[in-house]
Amino acid sequence: MKHIALFASGSGSNAEKIADYFADSTDVKVSLILSNNPKAGVIDRARRLHIPVLLFDRTTFYSTNQITELLLNQGIDLIVLAGFMWLMPADLVRAFPNKIVNIHPALLPKFGGKGMYGHFVHEAVAAAGETESGITIHYVNEHYDEGQIIFQASCPVTQSDTPDDIARHVQALEHIHYPRVVAEVLATLTTQES
Ligand code: GAR
Repeated sequence: MKHIALFASGSGSNAEKIADYFADSTDVKVSLILSNNPKAGVIDRARRLHIPVLLFDRTTFYSTNQITELLLNQGIDLIVLAGFMWLMPADLVRAFPNKIVNIHPALLPKFGGKGMYGHFVHEAVAAAGETESGITIHYVNEHYDEGQIIFQASCPVTQSDTPDDIARHVQALEHIHYPRVVAEVLATLTTQES
């Protein structure tokens, strides 16, 4: 059995899609959802999905290695960031080499980096007059949005699209692709180990 830990700061629609995808799996289990935001929608979703939640604050995350230790002790194989808005600390990245993936709501390397998250991304894409946007699923390193790209998918953007319209199209792509790509990354881990 492979164990996933999901990190989310917001609504958690991607976290829920991933949990649904593996709900009946005998090989993969979403064991834990972690969040920095006690008001995050993902917490209600986790409760409904019967997945344990761990809330943590900035000091615990950046000034102790409690989260890293817990994930190692729980035998977590893959960390999946699903709308998690904080930078992963160096000790956590080192403890899970190529075992942390993130989804970014644009076609990296465009519209990435510090401050480029959630709705800010779609506002920037609209303001720049882009003709397409999309999603990037990538490995996580110690810098925002810079790890190796695993998968991208794009959608057209028209002159009349508002940031909300772009967000809707991008989120649809996320929900279609993220669970499947997570399954593929897990399959790669299994192959490496056997
Ligand atoms: C998603 O669109 C995800 O790509 C984005 O936050 C949203 C979370 O939605 N992540 C980032 O911007 C990370 N830099 P959700 O809570 O409904 O899954």
